[in-house]
Amino acid sequence: MQIIIVKDYATMSELAAQIIADTIKANPHCTLGLATGSSPIGTYQNLVKAVENKEISFKDVKTYNLDEYCGISQSHPQSYYYFMHDNLFNHVDIDENNVHIPSVSSTNLEEDCKKYNDMLNSTTIDLQLLGIGGNGHIGFNEPGTPFNQETFIVKLTEKTRQDNKRFFNSIDEVPTHAITMGISNIMKAKKILMLISGKNKADTVVRLLKEEVDPEFPASILHKHPDVTVIIDQDAYSKM
Ligand code: GLP
Repeated sequence: MQIIIVKDYATMSELAAQIIADTIKANPHCTLGLATGSSPIGTYQNLVKAVENKEISFKDVKTYNLDEYCGISQSHPQSYYYFMHDNLFNHVDIDENNVHIPSVSSTNLEEDCKKYNDMLNSTTIDLQLLGIGGNGHIGFNEPGTPFNQETFIVKLTEKTRQDNKRFFNSIDEVPTHAITMGISNIMKAKKILMLISGKNKADTVVRLLKEEVDPEFPASILHKHPDVTVIIDQDAYSKM
């Protein structure tokens, strides 16, 4: 695991965008695994700038998102479908056919999971971008998720719902379930890039860097991946 400590969120976002842009330049047909949450927003803004400046193009890039909430529609401002279009896809030259986000539209969520998992198993993600939940979750793989888990419907923990409440009007509106890539899907990516920013992640960073590999802290499995870069800003690193 390569750890890079940077000054602040802006520097983290510039560096992460540079790493992703370099991946696209090296292989314009690459496949990216993308994440939501506040951590990657600045990275996406920098990627949009890079497209505007004609440094990179998403024309032949394929993307697979980590997760999606169940029980809200794609047009809901807090759906991850909406988030990805609002923050990235609407502003770059990506082909919508190359965009993959777990569908939660059918009446058969198990079937939706299987379809997404089959898609993931028939591709290779060159670079997977990750944030981290306060409790160490990656995607929506909550503490206790087996490391060999594939795409599944997860019941969100109260901690995660409380953490994400800030984006909704009230806790009652925060979805209780989501579809997420499993840890096994995430670990198959060739390269993983994790972003951690802010004082509220300082304890999370200590656990990630100091604790043993343990399903109770899902992100700890990343220590077993051969190519992981974690960019941490000084606030998030402040308890180390
Ligand atoms: C959500 C997402 C995760 C994300 C996490 C942290 O739960 N499913 O993919 O990493 O939030 O979000 P933030 O970056 O806002 O702290």
